[in-house]
Amino acid sequence: MMRLAGKTALITGAARGIGRAFAEAYITEGARVIIADIDAARASETAMAIGRDKALAVAMDVTDRSSIDAALGVAESHGFAPIDILINNAALFTAAPIVEIEEHDYVRTFDVNVKGTLFTLQAVARQMIATGTKGKIINMASQAGRRGEPLVAVYCATKAAVISMTQSAGLDLIKHGINVNAISPGVVDGEHWDGVDAFFAKYENKSPGQKKSEVGAAVPFGRMGKASDLTGMAVFLASSESDYIVAQTYNVDGGQWMS
Ligand SMILES: NC(=O)c1ccc[n+]([C@@H]2O[C@H](COP(=O)([O-])OP(=O)(O)OC[C@H]3O[C@@H](n4cnc5c(N)ncnc54)[C@H](O)[C@@H]3O)[C@@H](O)[C@H]2O)c1
Repeated sequence: MMRLAGKTALITGAARGIGRAFAEAYITEGARVIIADIDAARASETAMAIGRDKALAVAMDVTDRSSIDAALGVAESHGFAPIDILINNAALFTAAPIVEIEEHDYVRTFDVNVKGTLFTLQAVARQMIATGTKGKIINMASQAGRRGEPLVAVYCATKAAVISMTQSAGLDLIKHGINVNAISPGVVDGEHWDGVDAFFAKYENKSPGQKKSEVGAAVPFGRMGKASDLTGMAVFLASSESDYIVAQTYNVDGGQWMS
């Protein structure tokens, strides 16, 4: 039995990585998915590869509210409405020692990870309320939001903000029958972590790939995560099985963090 049959999902940052894996898992469970990404070309490739009639690519910059509204309009005009499920997945990573953090980097990372999460959530929640949709909203947090790291002050702070906003939005929206929860991954291999590895190579004088090996070995499960390790939680939180779960952030990280 497909657990998301007949549902329509919007996943931001779904052109690649974890968001793409979520899109594939949702289609397997019977949903149709809007692949929303600032990289419109890659979003189209992904939609073609994973779904054809089940996936719709839309260009969307989560930092720009008019872009969010336009993307929802495009989705609606293609029949991908109302939205039952939102995953706020788009994010940027950045790292630097405290004394080297640049203002433009701080602003851009907070814009994508925090402002983008809030106003995408707001736009979709408004649509859910207007259409009487008992929806599910899932925010992508991170173990980085659970505690600080010496080189990762800005990214960690954005993910702590995502955990906090999940609690506030969860408490506010449940009266409309909208569940807001979050997933907190640990270290998940992919293009994102190729970039993270490059930051650590620069600041910790490591060889390419060294940081990845180190963080993988430090995971209690014994390896880095894969995007597919997260899809079970993403399907569960989007399904009716999670109706009584409100404002929570779930660690899916191979045992890295306990809370
Ligand atoms: N990979 C990990 O180890 C890890 C760990 C913890 C949390 N996370 C979180 O999981 C989520 C997905 O991570 P990932 O590894 O797949 O990342 P990724 O970098 O591979 O993918 C991010 C996607 O977001 C898109 N994007 C960036 N800016 C955007 C914008 N302004 N508007 C719309 N789309 C935009 C990118 O084009 C890209 O397709 C992120 O929220 C990330 O912080 C990842």
